[in-house]
Amino acid sequence: MIRTFRIASLFSGCGGMDLGAEGGFSFLGYKYKKHNTKTVYAMDFDKKIVDIYNDNFANHCLVANIRNVKSTSIPDHEILTGGFPCQSFSVVAQNPKRLGYNDEKGQLFFEMKRILTDKQPKAFVAENVKGILSANNGEAFPLILREFESAGYHVKYKVLNAADFGIPQKRERVFIVGFLDKKAHDKFRFPKRLTGKESVPVSAVIDQEDSIDPKYYFSKKAIDGLNKTKHRNSMNKGRAQKIDEPCNTVGAHLSKVSLNSTDPVLKINEKYRMFTPREVARIQSFPEDFKLTSSKTTNYKALGNAVPPVMMWHVTDSLLNTLGDKD
Ligand SMILES: C[S@@+](CC[C@H](N)C(=O)[O-])C[C@H]1O[C@@H](n2cnc3c(N)ncnc32)[C@H](O)[C@@H]1O
Repeated sequence: MIRTFRIASLFSGCGGMDLGAEGGFSFLGYKYKKHNTKTVYAMDFDKKIVDIYNDNFANHCLVANIRNVKSTSIPDHEILTGGFPCQSFSVVAQNPKRLGYNDEKGQLFFEMKRILTDKQPKAFVAENVKGILSANNGEAFPLILREFESAGYHVKYKVLNAADFGIPQKRERVFIVGFLDKKAHDKFRFPKRLTGKESVPVSAVIDQEDSIDPKYYFSKKAIDGLNKTKHRNSMNKGRAQKIDEPCNTVGAHLSKVSLNSTDPVLKINEKYRMFTPREVARIQSFPEDFKLTSSKTTNYKALGNAVPPVMMWHVTDSLLNTLGDKD
């Protein structure tokens, strides 16, 4: 009999991680098969972003602050997922005795640990920025691993790059995977870079220039200002994307992108413009039918924060191969 793995998702955002864990979508002509999974719980405290989630998934995402979520209110599940927010680890590592009291966001992994301790799913997947490895002179990350271990899990981690999985973006993220069962831990292998597949350039996912709304272009004043600055050359090299390569990492604040910021922009025919939300969705490997139903600002924020669904699809595939999807 085919087993279905129930997933509970924390910090679900607009559901990039959840979509990848579920599968059953297409991206750039490739079909990512449906996994034997079912999302039974999702939550995030940003109502506007949750609205995007609920416009796209059958499962209903709750608006809640994780700190107020009792474990008993979460249905039983086999896999817990969460891209826990990672700000303020400096506070954590410098002042361990005050963990959980003074910092708003740096300690949310403790909430994930609390739920793991109480619910004991077979496995979990956590995702975070690569910088977490070196935060606080390298002290924060081992602390996080120890916390997950003390919840009863055997953990492994690896930095994966979205560009290695047919995604048109250089985005490095740490995936931490944990298992209750030591044998499953030993058996698990992170997905390998796809060989024989060229990396996908950003040109594969940008729209024709004549279809772009003028509001996405930077003004002549902004470009003249840029040309006067001494950073001009480094900017052209760093932020204006080469369209024959995967894009640099897209972040959550693309709505505020300026020519002086570090976020990626496009330079086409001597004109500079920002990516449209739909282009960002493709750079993040969301399928074309993923609905972007919020304001431009919220769409950018939700998409920039998301785990690329294709990346999570590969991690889930490896996880399910380990857990075995048949009784
Ligand atoms: C990195 S994003 C997660 C993105 C998501 N995994 C995806 O793939 O689309 C982190 C999320 O945590 C949410 N968040 C931050 N603090 C929270 C809290 N205290 N309770 C619930 N959600 C929180 C944010 O609103 C944000 O959507």
